[in-house]
Formats: sequence, C-alpha cells, structure tokens
Amino acid sequence: MRILSGIQPTGEPHLGNYLGAIKRWTELQHEQECLIFLADLHAITVYNDPATLARTIREAAATLIACGIDPGKTVLFNQARVPAHAEMAWLLNCTARMGWLNRMTQFKEKSGKNRENASVGLYAYPVLQAADILLYQATHVPVGEDQKQHLELTRDIATKFNTDYGVEVFTVPEPLIGKAGARIMSLRDGSAKMSKSDPSDMSRINLTDDSDTIAQKFKKAKTDPEPLPETMEGLEGRAEAKNLVTIFAVLADRAPEDVLGEFAGQGFGAFKPCLADLAVETLRPIRDRFETLRADPAEIDRILVKGAEKARLLSAPTLEAAYKAVGLPR
Ligand code: TYM
Repeated sequence: MRILSGIQPTGEPHLGNYLGAIKRWTELQHEQECLIFLADLHAITVYNDPATLARTIREAAATLIACGIDPGKTVLFNQARVPAHAEMAWLLNCTARMGWLNRMTQFKEKSGKNRENASVGLYAYPVLQAADILLYQATHVPVGEDQKQHLELTRDIATKFNTDYGVEVFTVPEPLIGKAGARIMSLRDGSAKMSKSDPSDMSRINLTDDSDTIAQKFKKAKTDPEPLPETMEGLEGRAEAKNLVTIFAVLADRAPEDVLGEFAGQGFGAFKPCLADLAVETLRPIRDRFETLRADPAEIDRILVKGAEKARLLSAPTLEAAYKAVGLPR
C-alpha cells in the first residue's frame, strides 16, 4: 500500500478538513508509506495574492505537523517544488477527454455563472490532481466525500493511458473515504458542506480558533428543538443535528450510535457544551503546536525542501515511464 493525499494551502484548514482527511492521514502514517503534499499549483487556478500564498503554504505545513503529521514518517512537501507534477499533468491532459471534465461538479460550482472567465487551470484542475496521484503509484487516497468524483476521473485517466499505450504505467488507485466524517456540514446550514470559501466564519471551526471562539460557534450552531434520538435513523431529516452528533463521534473516536446511547432524550442545551468541550480539548494542543512551529519559518522550509527531494526521487521512474510510453525521447 502507498497512501497519498493533499490539501490546498489557501485559507485556514477547518474541522471538516481535519475530520474528513488530516486526522486519518496522521493515523495511516504509522501503518503505511505516506505522501502528503500542499497543492499549491492547484491554489493558483484562482487568483491568490502571491505574498499571502507564500505565507499560507508555510502555515498549512505547520498546521499539518501540528495535527500530528510526522515529517520523519510522512513525505511532506509542496507540489511546486516537484516539477514532475506539472509535467505529468501535461501528458495526462492529452489523455483526459473534454467530455469527462465537462461533468466535474466542482468546476461547475467554482466557475459559477462566469464560466467563460474561469482559468484554463481551473478547468484542468482534476487532471493535475490525477497527475499528483498517478506519479507516485499511490494505491489508496484518503479524502473527504467531495473528492470522490476527482478520484473516479483519476481512475479513468489511468486506465485509458494504460490501454491506449498498451503498457501498465499507472496503478489504478482506490479512494479511502471514511464512514463518518467524510462530509462535515456547515454549522449554519446542514445542507452545505463546511468550507473555507463560506463567507460566514461562524459556519466553520478553524483549527486555529481559540477556545472561546470554538465554544461560541457551537453555541450559535443551528439546531432544532427536538431531543436526541436513540439511533442514527432517528436523525434522518435533521441535518444539523446529525452533523453535530457526527462531529462528536469522530472527534471522540466513537461510533455515532454510541454517542446517541449517551445523549438520547437530551436536548442541545445539554449536548452542545459537551461537544464544545471535546473540540476545545482536541484543538488546543494543535493550536499550541501550530503557534510554536509558525515562529520558525526556516525550519518549515527545510522540512518542505527535504520532502520535495524525496518526492522527486519517488516520482522520477513513473514520469520516465510515461514519457517513454508516449514515444518522447528525453
Ligand atoms: P481541499 O484542500 O479542499 O481539502 C483537503 C481535504 O479535506 C477534505 N474536506 C472535507 N472533508 C469532510 N468534510 C468537509 N466539509 C470537508 N472539506 C474538505 C477534502 O475532501 C480533502 O480530502 N483537490 C483537493 C487537493 C488535492 C488532492 C490531490 C487530494 C490536490 N491533489 C491528490 C488528494 C489527492 C482539495 O482541494 O482538497
């Protein structure tokens, strides 16, 4: 098994990123070979202020390490330091079909009504993502639910390339999507996912929010007046309530049914403070470590440079094999 995943280094990572992806990366690194990277080439598919981007790349790295990613175990790097990603993306652009990309829901959401004005990079975004994965022969890709379609596309691209050129250059990867936590919803609207781009900061818990802010956000989270039921089926049609129970369960490493077993019959007046305490206890050490790491940007750069060196070595054979397969001398 080889695990690979990435996160965009824009905005602040939030509880959805943590429960849907980062927390599982920290667990998997003890069992398997792991590569985790900051998708900074993806970040420029929409305009980002260059000076801010340089800072958020370091901060995202610091957040991942603060969450428990160990650069001694995991190969941690940023995409831009490994040119093979951009090179492989070009080769795969020639395999991916327009019809496949036209179906990508994330492009439709992000480009909105202004499709004609979206960058070509935003359109080709999922092909770069396929390159990220296929370059390393990753077998498993732990992501949240929203990345499922991009993973399916990656599988299609890998299969078509292997078939077209008649060589097994790429491993067809499997998505690893958690049972609970794969889609954490906004605290203000149970039908929208928790997201960095939501204009309301009250909709999400940022991993660097202080304890008072976390407690306040859970207190103000949208809920309903009903008491909690005994089973998860009892939460159907109560999206906000289901979301809070899910957050509790994943934070506590417990089954949602087990959490309901403890709180059944109680209202949110009792449940919310317990949830806030649990989140505060989990996030406080992460925030503290983050502050310490942020104070030493040179050390973060050293870690990312070292990670990129390893990533270059690991990606080189597959890039060579792909050039050879299409018949390009190097
Ligand atoms: P990004 O930066 O949007 O999110 C990073 C990870 O967090 C997950 N996630 C969530 N999980 C549960 N609930 C939520 N509300 C939530 N919001 C985000 C995402 O599913 C993701 O796993 N395109 C990717 C980055 C990427 C990548 C890759 C990932 C680039 N290349 C190759 C895997 C493999 C992205 O923008 O993730």
